[in-house]
Amino acid sequence: MIFCILLVLLQSIMDTLLDKPKYKCGCICANNNKIKCDDSEKVCGIQYSDQTQVVTCAIPNPPEWPPLLQLPALSCNTTASCYFTMLFTANNHSFGQSVSKNMFPSALTMNDYDIMASLAPNVLGSGTKPTDNNFHETAFTPEYPIFNLQTQCPQNNSGFLFPYQIAGTTAQQEIKCARGIYSWRNSSSDINKELYQTYQRGNPKRRINNIVSVFDFLNSNEDGFNVTVRFNATTKGADINHLNAMLRIPRSVNMISNAYLQFLLGPSTKILFEFVKEMPKSETPIRIEIATLLGSLFFTWVVLQLFPVVLTSLVYEKQQKLRIMMKMHGLGDGPYWMITYGYFLALSAIYMLCFVIFGSVLGLKFFTLNDYSIQFVFYFIYINLQISTAFLLSSFFANVRTATVTAYIGVFGTGLLGGFLFQFFVQETSFPRGWIICMELYPGFALYRGLYEFAQFSSSLSNLRTDGMRWKDLSDGVNGMKEVLIIMSAEWIVVLLVAYYIDQVLSTGSGKGPLFFLKGFQIKLLPSLKKPSIQRQGSKVFAQMEKPDVIQEREKVKQLLHEPTINHAIVCDNIKKFYPGRDGNPGKFAVRGLFLAVPRGECFGMLGPNGAGKTSFISMMIGLTKPASGAAYVQGLDIGTHMNGIYTSMGVCPQHDLLWESLTGREHLLFYGRLKNLTGSILTQAVEESLKSLNLYHGGIADKQAGKYSGGMKRRLSVAISLIGDPRIVYLDEPSTGLDPASRKWLWNVIKIAKLDRAIILTTHSMEEADALCDRLGIFVNGSLQCIGNPKELKGRYGGTYLFTMTTSSDHEKDVENIVQRLTPNANKIYHLSGTLKFELPKEDVKIANVFQAVEVAKRNFTVIAWGLSDTTLEDVFIKVAREAQAFDTLQ
Ligand SMILES: *[C@@H]1O[C@H](CO)[C@@H](O)[C@H](O)[C@H]1NC(C)=O
Ligand SMILES: *[C@@H]1O[C@H](CO)[C@@H](O)[C@H](O)[C@H]1NC(C)=O
Ligand SMILES: *[C@@H]1O[C@H](CO)[C@@H](O)[C@H](O)[C@H]1NC(C)=O
Ligand SMILES: *[C@@H]1O[C@H](CO)[C@@H](O)[C@H](O)[C@H]1NC(C)=O
Ligand SMILES: *[C@@H]1O[C@H](CO)[C@@H](O)[C@H](O)[C@H]1NC(C)=O
Ligand SMILES: *[C@@H]1O[C@H](CO)[C@@H](O)[C@H](O)[C@H]1NC(C)=O
Ligand SMILES: *[C@@H]1O[C@H](CO)[C@@H](O)[C@H](O)[C@H]1NC(C)=O
Ligand SMILES: *[C@@H]1O[C@H](CO)[C@@H](O)[C@H](O)[C@H]1NC(C)=O
Ligand SMILES: *[C@@H]1O[C@H](CO)[C@@H](O)[C@H](O)[C@H]1NC(C)=O
Repeated sequence: MIFCILLVLLQSIMDTLLDKPKYKCGCICANNNKIKCDDSEKVCGIQYSDQTQVVTCAIPNPPEWPPLLQLPALSCNTTASCYFTMLFTANNHSFGQSVSKNMFPSALTMNDYDIMASLAPNVLGSGTKPTDNNFHETAFTPEYPIFNLQTQCPQNNSGFLFPYQIAGTTAQQEIKCARGIYSWRNSSSDINKELYQTYQRGNPKRRINNIVSVFDFLNSNEDGFNVTVRFNATTKGADINHLNAMLRIPRSVNMISNAYLQFLLGPSTKILFEFVKEMPKSETPIRIEIATLLGSLFFTWVVLQLFPVVLTSLVYEKQQKLRIMMKMHGLGDGPYWMITYGYFLALSAIYMLCFVIFGSVLGLKFFTLNDYSIQFVFYFIYINLQISTAFLLSSFFANVRTATVTAYIGVFGTGLLGGFLFQFFVQETSFPRGWIICMELYPGFALYRGLYEFAQFSSSLSNLRTDGMRWKDLSDGVNGMKEVLIIMSAEWIVVLLVAYYIDQVLSTGSGKGPLFFLKGFQIKLLPSLKKPSIQRQGSKVFAQMEKPDVIQEREKVKQLLHEPTINHAIVCDNIKKFYPGRDGNPGKFAVRGLFLAVPRGECFGMLGPNGAGKTSFISMMIGLTKPASGAAYVQGLDIGTHMNGIYTSMGVCPQHDLLWESLTGREHLLFYGRLKNLTGSILTQAVEESLKSLNLYHGGIADKQAGKYSGGMKRRLSVAISLIGDPRIVYLDEPSTGLDPASRKWLWNVIKIAKLDRAIILTTHSMEEADALCDRLGIFVNGSLQCIGNPKELKGRYGGTYLFTMTTSSDHEKDVENIVQRLTPNANKIYHLSGTLKFELPKEDVKIANVFQAVEVAKRNFTVIAWGLSDTTLEDVFIKVAREAQAFDTLQ
């Protein structure tokens, strides 16, 4: 709209500027006495206006001008130097020479009664530059003389004044004599040598050239007249104002014809060439269509504006990992492409519709003159091409900001290059068409070309095509629209296919190789038919360091692979992940062989220090990365080949919230609910329940944009998304980080209810959470499971100790140690700092009563500031396991 309004403003400014007498045809009142007169009483025409107004005036009776020769632009002051040459040649020399004798008259003949008729036998010429019409002969200006070419000039060549009239006004023009020399050459190749070879820049023989024209009689004789007239056309087109100049050629044709006739029939025979006269014309006011002049550039920008919008939005979904999030909740590639494409197509179509309607309403000829069906087809194909290109390019950007900046640079660059470079190539007819087609392969130039053609067909400056483009104009040979339409349609299909291909290969999660389409539909058989390979490299080494519980889990997996049961939702068979080394760093195993079986109805907690490989494991399970080796089966489907099937029954709460900033919580849930096939009242009910259960319902939170949520709210929304639609398997990656204790309690309740009929894998750093939620725990250190079992077992196994803490003043530390020694010699001091001591006391050696007693006694001897005795917590187990594992690793 802004562009269009700008154009309309510019147009009206231009119109006011042109609405001045200077640019309008001069008209006067036919009745000079009246001050005011009606249009009917006005007479207009070139005679009433100055030269600049000729273009606009109505000229019903164009003036007659004597026909002139185009002479070289020489100043010719003295009689001696004043001559003009014509070159002759012929196959029959004697014939040629006798004809050329009749070219120039020997003296000027003029008759005052009928000047025009009496001038006809004379040869007049002028060196002034011609114009593109004959309404006004530029030679007739007082500054320049007109030359009369004679065989001989009189001694006192002072010239004379020639009076002429243009409809009422009378003026005078000096006519001077100049010698006309006809000069014989033996052949046309002699002439060529003379004209071109000796006439080179820097040639010492170069001299002022006064050759008017060259006549070649070829094979003419008495029976036939076959002649070539050559003239210097450089005058025409030497500058922009003379591109269409009408050179004064007819006179030379008349001269040579006349000479031939006189040769045949005697000197009295003459063809008289009396005058030249332009065709009458009606008034043509000057109007410069800004839209047409600037249109291609402006409108290229306007149409291209859509490109950054589409690209940015595609890259945004990629950058925020929303695409993967949707995929993980079951949105297939096909529907994603169709919906996204359809959405942008609709958006672009509405945009273009507004553009054309708005332009038409404002009355821009660019829109109103050209056939709307051509415009429709052109814009439709272009927006499709543009969207496909955006899809293609979005694969190469990871960052919205980079994409935006690049896209806008592209938009403005394309417009400017199109306007100031490409357009000149198009206008330059000598430029090879093949190259132009090559350039049009770039969609921006194709768009520019199309708009340029629309502009050409609606321009009042290109005088032949003012009625707009019609379908029949597509085949006129000059119009590039047909090529552009063909190029754009072909490109649309190719780009779309390439974009889809690259998307399939590059996008994480699809897990397809570059040749995925060759594989066809290969059905991977159920895991039971796969031979479990027990003997793997290095498994002995593992066996030594692995704990019995881990080995037991492995045996369970082996058995499950033999006899699959539907009860086990997740089965991991020696799954590994390796990150290759980069920049000289060695590669790293993030997951080094994991066996795990999680039945339905279980919440499996995954604990482990940072960087232990938990997130890598989850990434593999949800299809973000591919395992280096090993396999995993979810609901009996292989994650390597049937990820798309798995997605339909999977819910994920990723570690970082992947949300659309502009959608509300409710909209998120509705969207993901629909992906999980919920509809109608079931959907609304599920969403309401989900919102309520995660405390997102009250205070209008549900209808606020997710971008305005606090971290905790986003977290809860992510969990709600992962649980909506009753997925069979749910991965929760640190779901409670950033939650306040009350919200955490809400969340726990939700997960407790949810785990009843699902398999949940949960990672967390909160031992309290693991204790409260998980049926089984695995502690994951340095890429492998160190232990696995339910929390009580683990505590029993790893925590067979009490933790005894005592704080005294620092000079009694020895006493405290003595007391503990007395309680059990197996005690282990684990912490000691300025009077505070911490011991591990093996449970089998110590009775709690004895400890109390010992402390009572100790209190009598010295001041005990504080003391405590506690059972092992999961945290102690965790620290112990982690430390042991790392100690073992460093030992190795
Ligand atoms: C011809 O005459 C004009 C003025 O009459 C003068 O300006 C010009 O220099 C002269 N040219 C030559 C070549 O003498
Ligand atoms: C050449 O032209 C002359 C007339 O000018 C004619 O008499 C003569 O036969 C011609 N020569 C040839 C070879 O045609
Ligand atoms: C030039 O000479 C012609 C005769 O050849 C004569 O009629 C004419 O008056 C002369 N003009 C001048 C200005 O001397
Ligand atoms: C033209 O031809 C004539 C005779 O055929 C010859 O004498 C003369 O030298 C030639 N002129 C040139 C410039 O070759
Ligand atoms: C005129 O001359 C050209 C060039 O020599 C020749 O090709 C053509 O046949 C001639 N035309 C006639 C009618 O003799
Ligand atoms: C043709 O005209 C141009 C411009 O008037 C001039 O510069 C050029 O020398 C002319 N060429 C010949 C061969 O006479
Ligand atoms: C939704 O229904 C369609 C067709 O009924 C099915 O192909 C698809 O797997 C279902 N998706 C989910 C997530 O259940
Ligand atoms: C109390 O202190 C006395 C001496 O200071 C020592 O003999 C005795 O063993 C201590 N009792 C205990 C329970 O440490
Ligand atoms: C992890 O295990 C590998 C191989 O056993 C060992 O080289 C590496 O040092 C361990 N890393 C840590 C942090 O313990």
